[in-house]
Amino acid sequence: MIHSPASAPKGTPRRTSDHSRLQPPTETPIHVVDDDQAIVEALIHFLEDRGYQVHGFVDPTEASEVIRETPPHLLIVDRNMPVMGGIDLARTALEEDPDIGVVILTGAKEVELAIEAFRLGVADYLLKPLDFGEIERTVRRVLIRREQEIFHRDTESRMRRAVENRTLELERKNKLLEGVTVGALTALVELLEQKTPHFQGHSQAVALLSEKIAGELGLPKTEAKACKTAGFLHDIGMIAVPDQLLEKTSPLTQEESTQIQQHCQIGKDLLEPFAHLGPVPEYVFHHHERIDGSGYPDGLAGEEIPIGAQIVAAADSFRALVEPRPYRAAHSPTEAIEILIGAAGIWHSEEVLTALARLRPSASA
Ligand SMILES: [Fe+2]
Repeated sequence: MIHSPASAPKGTPRRTSDHSRLQPPTETPIHVVDDDQAIVEALIHFLEDRGYQVHGFVDPTEASEVIRETPPHLLIVDRNMPVMGGIDLARTALEEDPDIGVVILTGAKEVELAIEAFRLGVADYLLKPLDFGEIERTVRRVLIRREQEIFHRDTESRMRRAVENRTLELERKNKLLEGVTVGALTALVELLEQKTPHFQGHSQAVALLSEKIAGELGLPKTEAKACKTAGFLHDIGMIAVPDQLLEKTSPLTQEESTQIQQHCQIGKDLLEPFAHLGPVPEYVFHHHERIDGSGYPDGLAGEEIPIGAQIVAAADSFRALVEPRPYRAAHSPTEAIEILIGAAGIWHSEEVLTALARLRPSASA
């Protein structure tokens, strides 16, 4: 290695991520490799005069070993050397550290061959005989480009990491919120079922049956899951309905019916703030629509009614029929299906009822 005592190798210098200014030349190691010692010395003196930390080599093998230990920022290498050609050394150096700015020294007749080296990632070339003005401009240009590339790559990688971290954090918060929400809503449903003992287990049974009907209809799993959740929460708005109305077995007055019907809106309002519930609030809102348009709250008909709401409505009807009520005994599943199919096209669609019938649901689930 040829170098002045003041510029002994100091290990790989730190990189700056500020592309607006170059690192000081004293922190910019440059390796010069040429089998012509006079050229190496000339380049060392010229670049050291400009403050760079320069190491010269006439032996490319030695240069290769030093590069492996301490990659320079810039490598100026002669194309034609015995033992190891400049292109081979450039390839080895770039494999070691793709950020090295490699400049090939070449004769005018070999320019085309040197240009081929760009495919390897070589940054530039310099023609022999040496033009020191051109050398200074090339060295500066290659170093600036190197800093810019590192800056952009670091920025991109920092941004990608920040986005990834933010996404993970959001997912974690959503999961947490989902857990809290599910816990809180389950507690509300349990409270509702405690207020009305004959509804005990009704929500869970509607949930399971809704999921099965959705599966039978070939809906995607996420949709089936939304149907299950909507089935569990369909009457959550009843929590705001006075207890005496929930327990009333005699006919309801118009005002009382209106009060009960409000449980759809209340349920929707309660669930809507939870974005992760997706279409669930909408299904809950429409679970008393009828396929002929005679239901509430919006009087939607046919396909206007979201399919999830249609499914929950059918599951709710089936469960209501197979569960005992204070004013009547429970129907058997077969009777319940017959009753529902008898009203196909009025309460529920034939398609949903056929799927329900195919499932042959029992009275226990
Ligand atoms: Fe309801």
